[in-house]
Amino acid sequence: MPVPADPFTPGQAERVQRLRTEFSRMLMHHQFAIDEMLTKVSILREEFLHLHRYNPIEHISSRVKTPRSLIEKITRRGLPLEIDAITANITDIAGIRITCSFIADTYRILDTITAQDDVRVVVVKDYIAEPKPNGYKSLHAIVEIPVFLSTGPVHVPVELQIRTIAMDFWASLEHKIFYK
Ligand code: GTP
Ligand code: MG
Repeated sequence: MPVPADPFTPGQAERVQRLRTEFSRMLMHHQFAIDEMLTKVSILREEFLHLHRYNPIEHISSRVKTPRSLIEKITRRGLPLEIDAITANITDIAGIRITCSFIADTYRILDTITAQDDVRVVVVKDYIAEPKPNGYKSLHAIVEIPVFLSTGPVHVPVELQIRTIAMDFWASLEHKIFYK
């Protein structure tokens, strides 16, 4: 049987290999940022419970964007396949969703997190005060936190979505209807 020709020139093959390595390293940094942020949230939750005998958080979920969904977004935005361009433009690779009992809790959680010294707020979008035209409500923030690697700190953006159970219920159904 004939062996298929290598589709890459030596230079291209090297570039693809380098991109693959950088890509998986970048995703790993985002997972670390999620781990850091989950620790922060869980500390706040437990401390709050201890101090006030009240748990403002119903549920926490997190995810690193799948490579497929990331590639789709890169293509949709017309971004070059370069790590710097990707990390500068796509800030929801690391995502955390915090579901609270009441609206006051959502603001309290966001304020407490953003007040921390190592958290830098990039942008806050308050879709609770100003819902989207379709009715979507949620408190969104992009925050940057340091992750300490062997080579020193890297600052990684994390998208926070903080909403009430009612808003989360609505968003889940809307997402299902919209995508089917
Ligand atoms: P992307 O949609 O991720 O490109 O972000 P964006 O720049 O439009 O920011 P935005 O804050 O509006 O949305 C970020 C995320 O919030 C989305 O990826 C969804 O997870 C969620 N979201 C925003 N709008 C809606 C909506 O109308 N319905 C639902 N179900 N989720 C939404
Ligand atoms: Mg998104």
